[in-house]
Amino acid sequence: MTADTVAYHVADGIAWVRFNRPDKRNCMNPALNRRMMEVLDELEFRDDVGVLVLSGEGSAWSAGMDLKEYFRETEAKGLGAVRQSQRESYGWWRALRWYQKPTIAMVNGWCFGGGYGPLYACDLAIAAEEAKFALSEINWGILPGGGATKVVVDLMPLRDAMYHALTGELIDGRKAAEWRLVNEAVPLDQLQERVTQVARMLLEKNPAALKATKDAVRRVKEMTYDNAEDYLVRAQEAANFHDNTGRKEGIRQFIDEKSYKPGLGAYRR
Ligand code: ACO
Repeated sequence: MTADTVAYHVADGIAWVRFNRPDKRNCMNPALNRRMMEVLDELEFRDDVGVLVLSGEGSAWSAGMDLKEYFRETEAKGLGAVRQSQRESYGWWRALRWYQKPTIAMVNGWCFGGGYGPLYACDLAIAAEEAKFALSEINWGILPGGGATKVVVDLMPLRDAMYHALTGELIDGRKAAEWRLVNEAVPLDQLQERVTQVARMLLEKNPAALKATKDAVRRVKEMTYDNAEDYLVRAQEAANFHDNTGRKEGIRQFIDEKSYKPGLGAYRR
């Protein structure tokens, strides 16, 4: 009975994937982690999917790891089971970080601890103003692991990251946007509309360029300027191998056909 832990459908180029344990506030148990990997694998190379949106059923985005099933019950089985369940959760977050398609976290409600892994894995994040975030690990006596400390240090100013990690205090979507944990926050009743608008903007772009760009942003963050310069030349040349006409067509429509202006929008594909 693992099939229901993740719900999804595809409409107009967007894969809407949802954590689907609303009665458990979408906390991540091993069954959900395994199922999410399968769903991501199934959607990644489908031609009818251009953008993936990750949200949660019910009042939560995700209440983090399942303290009973992911921690207590797995630990009771021994080290092998612990490492296995870590591999399953970290595995789908990693797959999502380097996903073929651009991804948007649509944070509709509670987002705690382990939830910061998939939150960071999504390329963009848009939250409801009413959503609530916390690194609640400190409240039950552990440090924010599973990458969560790295996530806040990567995304937030250090003072805010430290305060967030040490206090476990709840912040709402607006504060999460102010601290750069998410791109922006909008009222819950406008969340899906805003996410759809952003997804449509991405759907207009060249898919090879989107994949090259999202990877470049994550890669160059860790590089010196000179290494980044070199990587970016090579990344574009590698992208040309898979899409050798895109950029030429973009130039042609602007310079020869004069049918659009790259400063104002995407070329016609
Ligand atoms: N692990 C296991 N079970 C959970 C979790 C979780 N992370 N979150 C919620 N649940 C379960 C509850 O035990 C409860 O189960 P029950 O119906 O069998 O009693 C059910 O989900 C509903 O939860 P409630 O607490 O009744 O829901 P409420 O809406 O009142 O509160 C809230 C929501 C604030 C999210 C609360 O459930 C909570 O504090 N959850 C834990 C959040 C957390 O700290 N997660 C761990 C982060 S650290 C990490 O991920 C490594």
